[in-house]
Amino acid sequence: MPATCVVGLQWGDEAKGKIVDLLTERHDIVVRYQGGANAGHTVVTGGETYKLSLVPSGIFRPEVQCVLAGGVVLDPAALLEEIDALTARGIKVAENLMLSDRAHVIFPWHFEEDRLLDRQCTSGEAIGTTIRGIGPCYCDKVGRSLAVRLGDMYRASFRGQIEQIVEAKSRGLAGLGGTSDGVRIDADEIFQQYSEYARRLKPHVADTTAYLLDALEADRKVLFEGAQGTLLDVDHGTFPYVTSSNSSGVGVSSGSGVPGRYITRVIGVLKAYATRVGGGPFPTEQDNQIGQHIRDRGNEYGTVTRRPRRCGWFDAVAARYAARLSGVDVLAIMLLDVPSQLPELNICTAYELDGRRTTDFPGHVDDLRKVVPVYETLPGWQEEISDVRRMDDLPAGAKRYLDRISQLLDRPVEVVSVGPDRRQTIFATRVVTV
Ligand code: GDP
Ligand code: IMO
Ligand code: MG
Repeated sequence: MPATCVVGLQWGDEAKGKIVDLLTERHDIVVRYQGGANAGHTVVTGGETYKLSLVPSGIFRPEVQCVLAGGVVLDPAALLEEIDALTARGIKVAENLMLSDRAHVIFPWHFEEDRLLDRQCTSGEAIGTTIRGIGPCYCDKVGRSLAVRLGDMYRASFRGQIEQIVEAKSRGLAGLGGTSDGVRIDADEIFQQYSEYARRLKPHVADTTAYLLDALEADRKVLFEGAQGTLLDVDHGTFPYVTSSNSSGVGVSSGSGVPGRYITRVIGVLKAYATRVGGGPFPTEQDNQIGQHIRDRGNEYGTVTRRPRRCGWFDAVAARYAARLSGVDVLAIMLLDVPSQLPELNICTAYELDGRRTTDFPGHVDDLRKVVPVYETLPGWQEEISDVRRMDDLPAGAKRYLDRISQLLDRPVEVVSVGPDRRQTIFATRVVTV
């Protein structure tokens, strides 16, 4: 059975959570395959707003199986907190949540390393991570010697593993500048605490790789929920201002254990403009009144960290690169209600780099810092569009804007979102034309 993947095409927060929640109705299984509690996915349903970090956005339909696959880095404290908060609001989280025994576990030293290392970034400016221990945990996974997978926590060797790691990490942290005030890395304490987490999580732990392969062979419908965005991919994004996993479409197979040939439909999610949280180049950034207009109307403050998001014009060079890399079939354009009331909208259609015009996305961060965006200006629209439910009822300016994005990315726009609620969504039956 073919599987579908939802992937962000910018620097995260494209409203993937909303799209996954909408598509869940037509799927049996929803899978997070990379990232961890650095993600903050919002689902608005029945007048309630839910913020999810680790639990897949399919959790609101109890008949759907949610899976955290082996490519996820799992912070057990954050996950249990999220499970408790959902349960307290009447959302079922029981056997409908499955955790891979191969997911790597985040420990207190990872938070400390994250904080200490980001200050020492060698490329000029801090990455501005979410300080959720993501990078350091993936480092240990690839380094192997000091890593712990969820399945390890149920073995007799777990205590010895913790003792050895704590010894090595204590030396390492001292070398990096020492832990924060009040943070103690004590083997016994950590062992006790994590054994309790392991006990609570036990009913959810499974071999998710075998489960997913069986499910696909049995023709069940699987939906993959990407976290972060394609431009934050560790191999293909704006390195080093990226996250530490393959957050583009290429990460689905390695993160979930599902061969690429099963993924027959990729939905690329984009905001109608661009945002970025943290450091790194952002060619179309508008650090001015336009950026502020977008930030105010879009409530552009981080879901996880509440940091103000940097805002700017839609960058079709970056988005086209991302759509190609992630193998996108169709586009979902989100938050189209936000740029209403601007007299004109700019779309970046090319970059000038060292006096040369290009539509290629540069591979080196120094080149991306240097590019000058070439803009095409389109008329805006003054109407509020949050109540529009049909493509034909959008103002001419909005239709033309969508059409131009579709043309520049060479892909049809299948979904348009005009507000956070499930109902504030327009499904196209054809490519928009004006
Ligand atoms: P994700 O990480 O990709 O799931 O996105 P986030 O949840 O971090 O950020 C998207 C934000 O936009 C959330 O607050 C959503 O509730 C909100 N949102 C989603 N779609 C729309 C929309 O069409 N219009 C507006 N105004 N807000 C939206
Ligand atoms: P969702 O899934 C937006 C950014 C951080 C930082 C960089 C590295 O909600 O779209 P990390 O903690 O991963 O090492 O931080 O990546 N970042 C995100 N930005 N949305 C996210 O997730 C992000 N996850 C990480 O701000 O710049
Ligand atoms: Mg988010």
